Amino acid sequence: MTTTIPGYRYGADLPASPVSFADLDLLLQTLLWTDDDAAALRTAGEVLEDQVDAILDLWYGYVGSHPHLVQSFNGADGTPSGDYLAAVRERFGQWIRDLCGRAWDDTWLAYQHEIAQRHVTTMGRTDDVQSDQTHVPLRYMVAFIWPITATIRDFLAAKGHSDAEVDAMYIAWFKAVTLTIALWSQPYAPETW
Ligand code: HEM
Repeated sequence: MTTTIPGYRYGADLPASPVSFADLDLLLQTLLWTDDDAAALRTAGEVLEDQVDAILDLWYGYVGSHPHLVQSFNGADGTPSGDYLAAVRERFGQWIRDLCGRAWDDTWLAYQHEIAQRHVTTMGRTDDVQSDQTHVPLRYMVAFIWPITATIRDFLAAKGHSDAEVDAMYIAWFKAVTLTIALWSQPYAPETW
């Protein structure tokens, strides 16, 4: 899974995440994560692979139609930057593949922390964006779990799996996205996380 997506630094020499494997394990227990979820998420990755562009079209349409969300992508002129949106879009597509297909090991944890920081403390730096926005509000990060989840179901159902298989993939996806935002909330509140 090598890639040359600009700004994508998975597996690069990043600092270790402050989140330990013990933290991750307790989060997985809290989410009632099972081996069946892990298998269903792998299958979801295969099902979604050739639908990533269509998924991103949908999500970008949703963000773009809400000014309070799309303002996070403002450029120097104080309006949403097409270049910034396009740069992030490529990495967003890769995130779908990574979430479903990568091992959740120390390399994965390190990149989760990198992405988390890109929403909070280093926003805009990767793509050299000058902006009046300093961070993505945490409340929108949490609320975004639902649209990212609700909209995935039709894509999961598009390859002829049974209702039970689609349900399993859908639940695994929901848990994995919730896990993601739990991890990404760390740099928003390092003292109380
Ligand atoms: C479930 C919640 C969310 C997920 C899964 C998500 C996912 C992602 C991903 C995968 C990236 C690119 C990561 C990379 O650089 O490799 C990204 C970047 C970004 N996201 Fe989110 N995001 C979420 C919530 C939000 C919300 C609510 C906003 C605000 C509208 C937002 C705005 C941004 C911005 C501005 C960037 C670029 C940050 C930078 O400058 O590098 N995200 N997001």
